[in-house]
Amino acid sequence: MTIRKAVFPVGGLGTRFLPATKAIPKEMLPVVDKPLMQYAVEEAYAAGIREMIFVTGRNKRAIEDHFDVAYELETELEAAGKGALLELVTSIKPDDMDCFYVRQPRALGLGHAVLCAERLVGNEPFAVLLADDLMIGREQMSGGPTVLAQMVQAYAQSPGTVLAVQDVPRAETRRYGVVDVHGVNATLAEVFGMVEKPAPEKAPSTLAVAGRYILTPAVFESIRQQPRGAGGEIQLTDGIAALIGKERVQAFRYDGRRYDCGSKEGFLEATIDLALANPALSEAVRAHLQRVMA
Ligand code: G1P
Repeated sequence: MTIRKAVFPVGGLGTRFLPATKAIPKEMLPVVDKPLMQYAVEEAYAAGIREMIFVTGRNKRAIEDHFDVAYELETELEAAGKGALLELVTSIKPDDMDCFYVRQPRALGLGHAVLCAERLVGNEPFAVLLADDLMIGREQMSGGPTVLAQMVQAYAQSPGTVLAVQDVPRAETRRYGVVDVHGVNATLAEVFGMVEKPAPEKAPSTLAVAGRYILTPAVFESIRQQPRGAGGEIQLTDGIAALIGKERVQAFRYDGRRYDCGSKEGFLEATIDLALANPALSEAVRAHLQRVMA
């Protein structure tokens, strides 16, 4: 079965990025010239997904507007003969892509956000993308697969839950869902345990879940059965962990780079790297960095 739908939980408050996120959603913060939200949607689209499901909240209107027609802007650009800009604006939502919105009335956790999409997802496997994890496949800039496209391929070979994982320093396990796997070095490894935000001394490994998932519809009922977990939230990790032994749950070591754009350091790293990778900016940015570092 192919993956046709992607869920984007975007209901969070973005407190780590205040004051920038007081009036705009954190997912609309731009890296170079594109909001984080658009990077994630483009990644899903490149993986063959055409139904985008946003789990939003109050204050998130800018996201809906970004993927809607901007009538005034488009009319003005057309009248001014600014074809390239018009194309840039209208290509944000290709004609064969559909956007759906559902609200998460309270920020009760990532598991709860995914549950809010249950009706829209229905009874089929689906992807979840956390937009503040900006993922760039290793060869993506030169036409290679995005991280989610790599995962969809892994799913096709071995259906079941697929979690993107990466090695992190043991001191940082408290920031992630951490998996216990057989075959720590395998690209795709069976998961036999999973825990949300463990203390370093309690973490089963240093393989942390990055913000990309392929989930099966069984996860909905599983999340519903979980008590509140780490931080008093309804955790996606707990819902997935409870499926182990009933269904295949796999950790996938993606080939690429993750930027934690929910943190200022990660956001700045992404900005610098993507500016350096941008032909129109790289020379000026490189020269500037050299001056600063001299
Ligand atoms: C969420 C998940 C966590 C995962 C992380 C990846 O945590 O709960 O399992 O490792 O995303 O970014 P959050 O960053 O929302 O605290």
